[in-house]
Amino acid sequence: MSSPTAPHSFDVVIIGAGAAGLFCAGQAGQRRLKVLLIDHSDKVAEKIRISGGGRCNFTNRDLDPAAPHKHFVGQNPQFCRSALSRYTPADFIALVQKHGIPFHEKHKGQLFADRSAEDIIAMLLAECEAGGVTRWQPCSVKKIDFLASSASESCRGSYQIDTDRGPVSAGALVIATGGLSIPKIGATDFGYRLAQQFSIPLIERKPGLVPLTFDGAGWAPYAQLAGLALPVQISTGAKKARMAFDEDLLFTHRGLSGPAVLQISSYWQEGTPLAINLAPTVDLPAALAQGKARSRKLVANELATLVPSRLADAWASREADWQRPINEASDKALARLAEQLARWELTPTGTEGYKKAEVTLGGVDTRVLSQQTMECKTQPGLYFIGEVVDVTGWLGGYNFQWAWASAHACAQAL
Ligand code: FDA
Repeated sequence: MSSPTAPHSFDVVIIGAGAAGLFCAGQAGQRRLKVLLIDHSDKVAEKIRISGGGRCNFTNRDLDPAAPHKHFVGQNPQFCRSALSRYTPADFIALVQKHGIPFHEKHKGQLFADRSAEDIIAMLLAECEAGGVTRWQPCSVKKIDFLASSASESCRGSYQIDTDRGPVSAGALVIATGGLSIPKIGATDFGYRLAQQFSIPLIERKPGLVPLTFDGAGWAPYAQLAGLALPVQISTGAKKARMAFDEDLLFTHRGLSGPAVLQISSYWQEGTPLAINLAPTVDLPAALAQGKARSRKLVANELATLVPSRLADAWASREADWQRPINEASDKALARLAEQLARWELTPTGTEGYKKAEVTLGGVDTRVLSQQTMECKTQPGLYFIGEVVDVTGWLGGYNFQWAWASAHACAQAL
């Protein structure tokens, strides 16, 4: 497969030593392929290091490979089904156990390392070591050309990769350069530019799993709630396409964050509203009516028995009708209060962007990739894995599981 004239020749060159690239390199190396893994950063897997608050939420037990649309977003959510079915959370858990890494389950099937994300990185590096993977870091890729082979040759062509450590040639090239989020730890648009070089279509990129922002003046009454977290139900979209999450919401100085908002952000379309139930487990009309029947407390104080007191104070201060003892408030005023808390409608003006987003929505169009191998149907020997592909998971370990599963599918096919 490799060119005899190039100073360095490998069976496969993988660009990007993050979650998908490291895992693919280890697996391919252990299949006795000669693998070169290149990253422009001097460190590997910076996103694993900072993930899950430093403990790496490395997979999710609730993932159902037969129904990927439940936990993945993209133009074709069924695309990831094959890879996710052939490398499941149980497979990754078995690997973690083989390496003796202690872990625990937190919320909704999310698995975290007990000690540190460093354990997962060390495991991936050990797997690369076992596969005899060569790593060049830091190393920049300057140019990539494809040399098609003549019809008489058995191989399909080779990639000539010009790096700042010299030229390399390989029969297969794997792009694992991830998405655009957190540029300060090494995210680049390399994968998308390479796709364009080979005329591979892209789906529009947008920040995903990202806090949402609101315009300064409109947000002023809520800015005082910064730091407040509470369980909510949040939803967006018209009836048929409505998405809803029951999770915690966090007020910030510029808008809303927390798991509820990060999840809904991947579905939110610019210019459309969100609906938030600020007391999803309370029957507010009944509770306020009972309060009126038995209490002389201020509406805000009575409300504070049902929702966090900072929220109760801020909300009651919005209308004169709510700034009185609850027994003196009209039924209409209390019904309006219950209705507004149960259906707070607001339209974000934007997101906090890639500097705060956990992932990038969109990317390499899955229609041009084989769902069995991740190879590009129009460009032999070129593979895309991980976040650079138009497959985005929910918060909760789904994105790492996609990185492992797509890397595994690719490594088995190389
Ligand atoms: P990844 O970003 O991991 O790796 C890409 C690699 O390519 C990097 O090493 C980068 O340096 C390299 N690269 C980029 N451009 C290059 C170039 N031009 N030349 C050479 N190398 C280049 N997911 C999850 O499932 N559970 C979690 O707990 C979290 N938590 C989390 C927290 C935060 C703060 C963020 C930002 C993200 C998460 N995620 C997550 C998402 C998860 O980190 C992400 O989906 C995966 O890391 C994607 O894996 P990839 O290998 O595709 O890209």
